[in-house]
Amino acid sequence: MEQTYVMVKPDGVQRGLVGEIVSRIEKRGLKIIAMRLNVIAEATAKEHYGEHAERPFFPSLIEFITSGPSVSMVVEGKDSVKVMRAVNGATNPVEAAPGTIRGDFALDVGRNVVHASDSPEAAAREIAIHFKDSEIAVYSRIDEVCLYE
Ligand code: RTP
Ligand code: MG
Repeated sequence: MEQTYVMVKPDGVQRGLVGEIVSRIEKRGLKIIAMRLNVIAEATAKEHYGEHAERPFFPSLIEFITSGPSVSMVVEGKDSVKVMRAVNGATNPVEAAPGTIRGDFALDVGRNVVHASDSPEAAAREIAIHFKDSEIAVYSRIDEVCLYE
């Protein structure tokens, strides 16, 4: 089973969307195996978004991501990286399809509510940035016998 890193960004927390987003992840059948609410430290945010360090939006992205509490998760399931990107929708919410989180709850690329890793390699890197091994739970969900063939 594949793992991915998911974040409800500070706008999602402030707007009371944590429950809605967690619910969508759970109902899809994906399993939350780690979860934390905290204000991400600046150094951690810069490491997380390191690939964008030279982009003009980098300073405002870091300022925003560290501006208040966010919810970090490790999510596990079949093709979870690809599935979570689809659940979140396009980066620019204006382009995001209705039914996706961004397509239902966002309008501005700088306030797009959620993050999910964009490849299995990125997922491994991001999970290691945000969680210790001891914070990740290995367990079966009772519905897995129905969810998977
Ligand atoms: P994320 O990493 O947050 O899940 O978003 P993403 O993969 O869909 O998009 P990415 O290209 O990684 O961009 C990271 C975040 O930076 C902000 N952004 N602003 N103003 C802009 O042109 C711009 N482009 C990207 C967005 O908040 C995006 O989620
Ligand atoms: Mg990204």
